[in-house]
Amino acid sequence: MICFFNGQFHSLSNIKVSPFDRGFLFADGVYESIRTYNGKLFRYEDHLDRLKRSLKETKIDYKKVDLLEKIICELIKKNNIEREALVYLQITRGSAKKRTHHFPVEEISPTVFISAQEFKKNTQAQERGVKVILQEDIRWLRCDIKSTSLLPVVLANQKAKEENAAEAILVRDGLITEGTHTNFFAVKDETVYTAPKSRLILEGITRKIVLEFCDKFKIDFREEFINKDELKNYNEFFITSTTKEITPIIEIDFWKINQGEPGKITRSLQAVFNKVAEDY
Ligand code: PDD
Repeated sequence: MICFFNGQFHSLSNIKVSPFDRGFLFADGVYESIRTYNGKLFRYEDHLDRLKRSLKETKIDYKKVDLLEKIICELIKKNNIEREALVYLQITRGSAKKRTHHFPVEEISPTVFISAQEFKKNTQAQERGVKVILQEDIRWLRCDIKSTSLLPVVLANQKAKEENAAEAILVRDGLITEGTHTNFFAVKDETVYTAPKSRLILEGITRKIVLEFCDKFKIDFREEFINKDELKNYNEFFITSTTKEITPIIEIDFWKINQGEPGKITRSLQAVFNKVAEDY
């Protein structure tokens, strides 16, 4: 596999990261996951805007962000990816001479790593729907930043895996925020609900697309937190992300929703998404 690392393309085995890299020591970095449809980067501008915001909020001074699109396209070509690609892009604050909690006093340059791999979506999960579990949201209070500091969601997602669930949905102070790597949606009385933009969730690009669809197709939606104890008042649920697209939820913590059948509004949003992706 060819990857991009600090200004050059290398084969993966030739890439060396310093143990003093702040990404390694402190998870002092930010990232994006982007995919292609029909070989084209999907909603790249949105990913770029979010990356710029993450860099700004973490005060990582990376000046070449506008050159990344060209590099990513070249990387996909170099890897001869014939179908769809999933691109992972990470920028850390860089490598310093010694470990200090504050930013290094000397000038350092950010470490940039990009990979592109063939991506195959989980069609079965999207058709049949998935089981999820609820877990306490123990993350920091800046979940709006796409930071590589992901240990709380690693642990929650591992718990889901151990329980044969596809995702863990996070609950903070009784309110549902989002999934470990997805946004969460519920439907009640033909109205779509999802947690509001705030420091408690990542503003997903797929979430944004779903809300655009709701606007366009006159489906009512509300950006409101859902109380964990009121979940049973809703009759459809789904998660969204770059890799999961729109995936129906059919079971939450052993509660089988709607006899295990994905809901009607979920299905219609999926159909619109698939059409947009197909025509992209
Ligand atoms: N995860 N919420 C969290 C906490 C996420 O990590 C992600 C994305 C999302 C959905 O965002 P988007 O629709 O822009 O993919 C929501 C990516 C896919 C990841 O961790 O690789």
